[in-house]
Order: sequence, then structure tokens, then C-alpha cells
Amino acid sequence: MGMLANKVAIVTGAASGFGAEIARLYVAEGAKVAVADLNEDGAKTVAAGLGSGNAIAVKCDVAKRSDVDNLVAATAKAFGTVDIVVNNAGYTHRNSPMLEVDEAAFDRCFDVNVKAIYLMAQAVVPVFRQKKSGNIINIGSVSGIRPRPGLVWYAASKAAANFVSKAMAAELGPDNIRVNAICPVMAPTGMIESFMGMANTAENRAKFVGNIPLGRLATPNDIAKAALYLASDLSDFVTGVELPVDGGRAV
Ligand SMILES: NC(=O)c1ccc[n+]([C@@H]2O[C@H](COP(=O)([O-])OP(=O)(O)OC[C@H]3O[C@@H](n4cnc5c(N)ncnc54)[C@H](O)[C@@H]3O)[C@@H](O)[C@H]2O)c1
Repeated sequence: MGMLANKVAIVTGAASGFGAEIARLYVAEGAKVAVADLNEDGAKTVAAGLGSGNAIAVKCDVAKRSDVDNLVAATAKAFGTVDIVVNNAGYTHRNSPMLEVDEAAFDRCFDVNVKAIYLMAQAVVPVFRQKKSGNIINIGSVSGIRPRPGLVWYAASKAAANFVSKAMAAELGPDNIRVNAICPVMAPTGMIESFMGMANTAENRAKFVGNIPLGRLATPNDIAKAALYLASDLSDFVTGVELPVDGGRAV
């Protein structure tokens, strides 16, 4: 029996990076997973790799209410219910001085990183309330705890994602709904060039490692293991935490 046997999870932004690895680990631990992403082909490829009957791919823009409502309905239709939601899809402006980030990029940060959590809560909390149980994991960022220059507006949106996890935990605890945030440090995923503001080379990545006491960047598997812990009964009395998975960068 896996740690997530008989559980049904939605993972957004699961066509690549952290989300794809979270989906893979959840299925390995017995869950059924809806692999949701703007990138439909990518989501289909990830879902197909998880074995027949274990996953569905759903095209979804997490910043669009009708897409999010459809995602929750499609998951319940395929697997009977929803137990776990990982709000992982994210967007960042390119690392650059704060005054050079245009309004469209600012809006996109808040739409994808913050409004999406609101839209998903509206869609899924009524389902969780009816069942008297549910689990929401928001992928925030260590930049929302300890910001550095160049990612000011992204960091602000992730601070909101971190914070809303605590606020939601306080309000939803009486319904037996847990809400936690994972705060990763930089990892070599599809977003790394934008985070660094420079080419994704070993030499450039090394410039960001000096800040991290454990001496390396994060990996998708580091984040997936934390997402497994928070989704499982091992953390059944844990809610409202901002969990840095950052090799000590936030200290
Ligand atoms: N990689 C890092 O260094 C790092 C550090 C801290 C936090 N994060 C956060 O981790 C999360 C996952 O990012 P990643 O690093 O795996 O990057 P990634 O680019 O590999 O994956 C992000 C996925 O989100 C999808 N996506 C983007 N906008 C979407 C939308 N509106 N609707 C649905 N899907 C959308 C993309 O298509 C992509 O598949 C993000 O929230 C990101 O902000 C990443």
C-alpha cells in the first residue's frame, strides 16, 4: 500500500518541472492524478507515462475560472472525487530591475501565482467541505520569505501565495481541510533562465549556489518528496506552514 493509496490528486503545471515529478511520485504512492497544464501536449505526455488508468491530462489555464471549474469536474468524473490539490503552475517575469517589468508581466504573476489559488479554492473547497476533508498544497517560493533583487514582483506574488496558505489554513481547519505552502529555492526547471536572467549554463547556475548552505540547487524530486509528505497522513496535524525546501537559503 502506497502512502497515497485510494487518493485522488490534481496537480497544476504538471507538464514539466516540479509538477511532473509530483505527479510521478503521487502515482508511485498509489494516487490517481489529474495532470493539468496550459501545455496540453506536455500534459498528455506526462499522463501517458504514468500508466493507463492512473492519470488524466487536462488542458487548463489556472488563471481562468471556467478552466479551473472544468478541471475539478473532469477529475471527479474520471476518479470519483478530489482529495488533494497541488497549486503548482507558476509564472515569473524575467529577472530584471523592478522598474523594467511591464504591467502585463506584473498582472500575469498575480493571475497565475495568486488568483489561481482563489479560483481553485472556489471550485474545490465546496467539494472538500461536503466530504469533511481535503488537502491543498500551494507551491510558493523562498523568494516570498527572503527576497533578492531582480524578482521583486514575482517575489511579492509568491509572498501572497505563502501567506494565503496560512490564512486559508486558519479558516478551513474546522472543516478538516489542511493548507500548506512549499517554498522551493532555485531549481533547474523550465523557469530557471527567467529566474536567473541569464543563460542556463553550469557557470551561471553556480553563481546562485553560494547563498545555499547545503551547497546545491533544488531538484524536482526534493520538492516532490515534500509534496508527498504534506499530502500524506504523515503530516495529518500539520497545517498553515510555509515549508522551505531550500538547502537552508531562508535562514
Ligand atoms: N524552478 C525554480 O527555481 C522555482 C523556485 C521556487 C518556486 N518555483 C515555483 O514552482 C512552480 C513550478 O515551476 P517549475 O519550476 O517546475 O517550472 P516549469 O516551467 O518547469 O513548470 C511550470 C509549468 O506551469 C505551466 N503553466 C504556466 N502557466 C500556467 C497556467 N496559467 N495554467 C496552467 N499551467 C501553467 C507551464 O506550462 C509549465 O508546464 C511554479 O509555481 C514556480 O513559481 C520554482
